[in-house]
Amino acid sequence: MHKLPRRVAVVPGDGIGPEVVGESVSVLRTLNRIFSLDMEFVDFPWGAEHYLEFGETLPEDAVEMLNREFGAIFMGAMGDPRVPDMVHARDIVLGLRRKLDLYVNQRPIKLLDQRLTPLKDKGKDDIDFVILRENTEGSYVGCGGWFKKGSADEIAIEESINTRKGVERIIRYAFSMARQYGYEKVTMADKSNAIRFGHDLWYRVFQEIGEEYPDIEMQHLYIDVLTAELIRAPEQFQIIVTCNLFGDILADLSAQLMGGLGLAASANLNPGKVSLFEPVHGSAPKLAGRGLADPVAAILSGQLLLGHFGLAEYGAIIEEAVRDSLQQGITTPDLGGHSTTQDVGAFIRKRIEELADEK
Ligand code: IPM
Ligand code: MN
Repeated sequence: MHKLPRRVAVVPGDGIGPEVVGESVSVLRTLNRIFSLDMEFVDFPWGAEHYLEFGETLPEDAVEMLNREFGAIFMGAMGDPRVPDMVHARDIVLGLRRKLDLYVNQRPIKLLDQRLTPLKDKGKDDIDFVILRENTEGSYVGCGGWFKKGSADEIAIEESINTRKGVERIIRYAFSMARQYGYEKVTMADKSNAIRFGHDLWYRVFQEIGEEYPDIEMQHLYIDVLTAELIRAPEQFQIIVTCNLFGDILADLSAQLMGGLGLAASANLNPGKVSLFEPVHGSAPKLAGRGLADPVAAILSGQLLLGHFGLAEYGAIIEEAVRDSLQQGITTPDLGGHSTTQDVGAFIRKRIEELADEK
């Protein structure tokens, strides 16, 4: 089988992207050095600045080059007030998801410090699950148009595309991940009581694939019920699989359960192929360049990147160091601390050095 190159395309992007990516890539370089992991990092300037200067969002040969030469892409965030229609962000983020067929958007939710959850009486054992969001179809396909735009009779049509192949592969991924990593249950959320055709397909495919995994418990919830249950009893969830739009919303809601968007990591996967890693948060232009952005979401996205390279045991060291930083209150203001983006990164790297010595 073609071996995945341990080459990482680094795309810092806009706003706070460069700061948080800087810290996260330094963390990865630290592990690379200590354990000789043979990773290599190559920077790419794609983002608002590049678009405004050259009129180019993604270079024409980018997808082919990434497929050929890289095993992973590490991205900061896209979004800049100078590009109000967000064309570059859509082209780059959604473009790469689609063109590289990154059909799994994996967003782990794990409470790393008891004090960070807004839920009373819930602890680390209660908030620990993974969201698997379909990442190439649904309402995100841009299939639609305007009729009589700007007039009082305007019509806007936006189709949601659900293919059997697309629904099947993300649901299958959920079950096979459950089996591989020892999860006992998969929850699927749709709105098949109202979205009759597309989500009926989701419902049927879930039942079908589930039959192949008699060892895994299945739970089906309508999306509105799931959002309520996430707050009432998050301990019932292990793996949640859902469509593109619902997954987007659920990820932000769930991130709050573990302390906010400053901590939420994500992997956009085409398993075994070049895949993209990025924090869930946006570019937060108002925070940019001030050392206020929390680098933990980006640093934990680095943990997911190591998992993709088959290096999960080193990823676990990142998680342990992050846990220590939170426990000792070495945090940015979003979590009530007084440290800068750079202080948090430096602390985590120092902890990694110490943890490596102990191993
Ligand atoms: C995310 C973001 C994107 C999405 C935006 C920037 C298009 O919110 O990664 O969650 O909706 O997928
Ligand atoms: Mn989002």
